[in-house]
Amino acid sequence: MKRVLCIIALLTAGISASPTVSAEGVLIFGATRNTGLEIAKILVARGEPVTAFVRPTSNLENLALLGVTYFKGDALNADDVERAILAKNYKAVISTLGGGRGERPPDLVGAINMVDAMTKSKTKRFLLVTIIGPGKSISMVPRQQREAMGSIIKLKAEAENYAIASDLDYTIIRPGQLTSNPRSGIIRMDLEPAPTGPITRADLADMVVSAFYDDATIRKVYQTIGDDPLATVRMDRQPQ
Ligand SMILES: NC(=O)c1ccc[n+]([C@@H]2O[C@H](COP(=O)([O-])OP(=O)(O)OC[C@H]3O[C@@H](n4cnc5c(N)ncnc54)[C@H](OP(=O)(O)O)[C@@H]3O)[C@@H](O)[C@H]2O)c1
Repeated sequence: MKRVLCIIALLTAGISASPTVSAEGVLIFGATRNTGLEIAKILVARGEPVTAFVRPTSNLENLALLGVTYFKGDALNADDVERAILAKNYKAVISTLGGGRGERPPDLVGAINMVDAMTKSKTKRFLLVTIIGPGKSISMVPRQQREAMGSIIKLKAEAENYAIASDLDYTIIRPGQLTSNPRSGIIRMDLEPAPTGPITRADLADMVVSAFYDDATIRKVYQTIGDDPLATVRMDRQPQ
């Protein structure tokens, strides 16, 4: 009898210890479209509760089909971001924030706001999608594109450095040129620069989700290497 009670106690302890966290799921910044939307689709299909941080102006047509929870705000507003992050015990925060033409870019300020809020929260796992270009990955950017991409690479590099300097369990994933073609399965993450072609957002989303489920990726910075077979505009494949 004593043994049975002991087993029941252990089982109960196990139940109460883990799923409070798993029940809270993942908070995504950038889920309204493109890579962030693909990530939301994969997580929802896996049964992971998803909260999407969206703007009051965001088009929610595609997200609405997924039945995710919304948190409305602006990533440029530190209070909005903090309220969203402190609202639940998320397993992770994922960011695919990117700027539209003519808008104030959210890449750096948004990342700072997320890191600052996460530092005050119980959520420590942070997956940040940046760009090929910061640090040693500059060797992967064709010389003729470096000047045009300089300002966005600088913002993304500062965002990366802010996350790296934190005590968060970050994974930084740097993609190059993205396409919206169907998933090709031709993609990998590499700690070192390597020749690459364009990659599809669906393939990138697969990488982000697999990194989320793989603790070996914590505190690492990856370049994504791929080759979308349907891409018409080719990146220079040779690191320079
Ligand atoms: N496009 C490329 O070829 C390329 C290349 C390398 C790296 N990247 C990076 O890869 C990631 C994914 O890019 P993508 O093209 O798939 O996605 P994207 O179209 O750039 O999506 C950007 C997302 O950020 C959200 N957003 C922008 N400003 C915001 C703000 N102030 N507050 C809240 N949300 C805001 C947008 O929401 P709304 O719907 O409200 O606008 C949207 O959901 C981005 O980080 C991007 O910088 C892109």
